[in-house]
Amino acid sequence: MVEAEKPHISSGLEGVYIAESSICKVDGQNGRLYYRGYSIDVLSSNSNFAEVCYLLLNGKLPSSAEFSDFNRQLVEARDLPEGVVNIIKEMSKKSHPMDILRTAVSSLSAYDAETADQSPEANLRKSIRIISKMSSIVATIGRINAGGSYVAPDKSLSHEENFLYMLNAKKPDKRQVDIMRDMFIIHAEHSSNASTFGTMVAGSTLADIYSAITSGISVLKGPLHGGADEAALRMMKAIGSPDNTEAYIDSALAGKQKIMGFGHRVYKAYDPRAKIIKAYLESLQLDASAEVKTYTAIALRSEKMMVEKLSQSHGIWPNVDFFAGPVYVAAGIPPELFTPIFAASRSPGWCAHMLEYWKNNKLFRPLEVYTGQLDLQYVPIEKRQ
Ligand SMILES: CC(C)(COP(=O)(O)OP(=O)(O)OC[C@H]1O[C@@H](n2cnc3c(N)ncnc32)[C@H](O)[C@@H]1OP(=O)(O)O)[C@@H](O)C(=O)NCCC(=O)NCCS
Repeated sequence: MVEAEKPHISSGLEGVYIAESSICKVDGQNGRLYYRGYSIDVLSSNSNFAEVCYLLLNGKLPSSAEFSDFNRQLVEARDLPEGVVNIIKEMSKKSHPMDILRTAVSSLSAYDAETADQSPEANLRKSIRIISKMSSIVATIGRINAGGSYVAPDKSLSHEENFLYMLNAKKPDKRQVDIMRDMFIIHAEHSSNASTFGTMVAGSTLADIYSAITSGISVLKGPLHGGADEAALRMMKAIGSPDNTEAYIDSALAGKQKIMGFGHRVYKAYDPRAKIIKAYLESLQLDASAEVKTYTAIALRSEKMMVEKLSQSHGIWPNVDFFAGPVYVAAGIPPELFTPIFAASRSPGWCAHMLEYWKNNKLFRPLEVYTGQLDLQYVPIEKRQ
């Protein structure tokens, strides 16, 4: 093909708009994030996960009566079918929790009488069940991995409290609940990122919502996306002591290694979610454990160095995943659950995008520029060189 005739390829779909949406605005130049018009700072200071789910799915904050009804549906859907718990037990210790989550969420379709009902009303009801059960699944994965058995949900608790209760089989303290509330809210939605797009691609074929969400979980797993939180903590563990930080980062950058938890396709400023998590981490400092203090010191020294070296010059700033690890450790969460928690938190965003996109559905089908040969002769196998 003559160079001038070659179609423009947007590698990684960079700069390509795929839809109109009123769910989320990521202002990458100014480092701002809004869910349905509310800034993430306002929501993380004032709201709770159940209310944010209502906002994302319904487009407005609920009245008291609307919230009670919505929250009742979320609470009632918390319990897991025995078959799903058995899948978790079977895969426990053999697979990464993201793989267990993906399989368990996929299996939920077998227990939902409305799986094949594609009406908007049924899809909203299924969304509520998915959001509710994904947190129960993640908590149960953690519980069973730790050698415990399934803890039935407690209907008197908030979403965040119940998650910790099902994980640890005891009522959480205030700090743990505050951390989970912030993390659930901060991760709830982020426009057409890779996993939301993956969800939408599956959904655009009119596959059911369980198939779509299972695709989203698969896409989120990778270290370039949701898996970066666990990878960033692994790096902090490898650094070991705050005084090793600068040498480690220098050598990683010299070896062209990416520092997990930095950089973003859209944010060319400080990720507002990272700012919230960093402030929270700093506020924990005084009475944090020695482990959290060490991670915090390493994280802050790495951040200072990266900002000096790469942020201003290359637009590579800390993202949501960088400070998440130490904060989760402060809440007693094991590293292999970080990305599954991200997935459970992101489920309202994925569902909201499906409900919106299905109103005006169009199958996703991009093009490729073919660079292979044409009209080759078929040579029988015994005559091939
Ligand atoms: C998120 C990410 C995939 C977005 O990147 P992108 O828009 O596709 O841009 P690229 O990966 O092509 O990076 C552009 C340049 O910045 C560099 N860069 C990007 N992120 C970097 C990082 N975390 N550490 C060091 N260098 C980085 C790349 O090496 C590349 O440099 P080059 O032009 O010299 O080759 C990328 O920043 C990354 O891999 N970050 C680490 C993983 C992570 O934290 N993911 C979670 C995102 S919320």
